[in-house]
Amino acid sequence: MPSQPKSGLQITGTGIYLPSHVLTNQDLEKLVDTSDEWIFSRTGIRERRIASETETSTWMGVQAAQQALTQAKIQAADLDLILVATVTPDSFFPSAACRISAELGATGCPAFDLQAACSGFVYGMIVAEQFLRTGAARNVLIVGTERLSSVVDWRDRNTCVLFGDGAGAIVLRQNEASRGILAFDWGADGASADLLHLHNPQSRGLATKPPAPLAPDCIVMAGKEIFKQAVNAMADSALRTLQKAGVNLSDVRCVISHQANIRIIDALVDKLKFPRERCFVNVHKYGNMSAACIPVALHEAGPEMKLQKGDKVLLVAFGGGLTWASALLEW
Ligand code: ACO
Repeated sequence: MPSQPKSGLQITGTGIYLPSHVLTNQDLEKLVDTSDEWIFSRTGIRERRIASETETSTWMGVQAAQQALTQAKIQAADLDLILVATVTPDSFFPSAACRISAELGATGCPAFDLQAACSGFVYGMIVAEQFLRTGAARNVLIVGTERLSSVVDWRDRNTCVLFGDGAGAIVLRQNEASRGILAFDWGADGASADLLHLHNPQSRGLATKPPAPLAPDCIVMAGKEIFKQAVNAMADSALRTLQKAGVNLSDVRCVISHQANIRIIDALVDKLKFPRERCFVNVHKYGNMSAACIPVALHEAGPEMKLQKGDKVLLVAFGGGLTWASALLEW
């Protein structure tokens, strides 16, 4: 472990894994009473990836992590911390982070899961930054991996059209010559938890207060309300981050927002008055992959948006909890 505090950090590697099985809107027309026209016009989604039985959250996370390590030109043994953001771990324990660490061969490296639903990956970057800035870690692997197809009710057209599976990973490294995360903002509001939740069917313990009516073990969502909350929370969080960084929105080269729905992204950029063409979008290909959205977008945005060293990139996410987070990066 390095002992001297250092100031900057840099993304030295990114990696992704998307299952090869593509489920199109036309495929969904055969499962539920829906249409490509309805799904695309309401969500911007054309297709999503669906994991096979062997493509578990751990397995997909390992593939993405290995690619990120290769690009960062480091070995698993060089990692000082592994963080995994997921709402669909293969087991409650061991954590997905421990399972991924074992597959990578990162024996001894601290590893833990971090759960903030769709905001989980940005939460992970913020946590990692604290260790990197103080010198407590030099290389941190952050993985977002989700197998949402296993927690979606495939009879519920309100939700099953929205989600997909996949994984993304980055390596964050101490680097005095790079500024990395210029500012961040994060928050949560547990009082609105019921708007979007996934109940644990095993949770039947003695409770002092009875829980809300038990939901099935699938994602439950109040779509319209979540839509409004997502737009407002992401816009407010993004503006707080910019204010902390002392950076004007006009100086931001690219916004990478959580990929839940094109209408949420459009409403966000409208509210911020940010040029739509400088907002990265891949929701049409993958749907909402919760904590995997931001790392997959980070991997694809570099070449697609032609990001250059020094560009300011604003990450912003919102998810169940409710949770939100934003971070301003210097590329
Ligand atoms: N196909 C056809 N019709 C549908 C479908 C579908 N897949 N889903 C719902 N409908 C119907 C509804 O039953 C309703 O019919 P009714 O009027 O006969 O009752 C009608 O379409 C309109 O439904 P609304 O809920 O009013 O549609 P809305 O315009 O709100 O769009 C949507 C629904 C897309 C879910 C929207 O509310 C939304 O985007 N919400 C955000 C949800 C989201 O992205 N969640 C992801 C998790 S949170 C996050 O990641 C930020």
